[in-house]
Amino acid sequence: MTKQNTSASAPEAGHFITLEGGEGAGKSTLAKALAARLGALGLTVELTREPGGSPKAERIRNALLAGQIKPYGAFAEALMFSAARIDHVDRRIKPALARGAWVICDRFIDSTRVYQGALGAIGPEKLAALETVAIAGLKPELTLILDLAPEIGLARAASRRLPGEAVDRFEGETLDFHRRLRQAFLDIAAAEPGRCVVLDASRSPEQLAEQAWQALASRLRLPQIAPA
Ligand code: TMP
Repeated sequence: MTKQNTSASAPEAGHFITLEGGEGAGKSTLAKALAARLGALGLTVELTREPGGSPKAERIRNALLAGQIKPYGAFAEALMFSAARIDHVDRRIKPALARGAWVICDRFIDSTRVYQGALGAIGPEKLAALETVAIAGLKPELTLILDLAPEIGLARAASRRLPGEAVDRFEGETLDFHRRLRQAFLDIAAAEPGRCVVLDASRSPEQLAEQAWQALASRLRLPQIAPA
């Protein structure tokens, strides 16, 4: 039998960075830009996302974003996001960190805290218990929170959609939902300033990537490149 979700306190050799924020904030583009910059320093990079990031977790993602779990309520959705996370952490993130990789993950625990916790009204104790089971002690070293007015983010997300493609489970929520969501991410950043940095996602992708790089370089130790 495969051992799952273990090594709560095992020191990891790599670095774990997460990107968070509302819809259309530019997380995926930023993740790729950071991966390219880290790669250019000769570092091993693992670019991944949640929900998903492993074959089984991607299947759970499809069900969640198609709205198949929505009728069961926010707690059932939180359970499914957590089930996906357990597989992703065990099969992808922890092995990559053990190899010394820089893992960049598009969404992680803060999305559950915000979408299912703050917006789904799941109590903090219940959510914390779920989180403990799902991440088994693994916390991001740095979380970049992309802050953007939801009107802009939703318009960006809509412009990305292919003709005839349906809005996904959360994009279809009200503007008020997305405003509260933005505030909930800012509240997390204020509560955990040692881990979180808020970035202005209304900037161009290049400016955003530069802001993110400055945050990363000031918080984590990057290898020095020898002058040519
Ligand atoms: P995205 O990858 O395009 O951002 O879509 C993922 C959606 O899933 C997004 O609307 C946020 C939502 N989500 C949660 O509600 N809870 C979670 O724990 C995670 C990781 C994502």
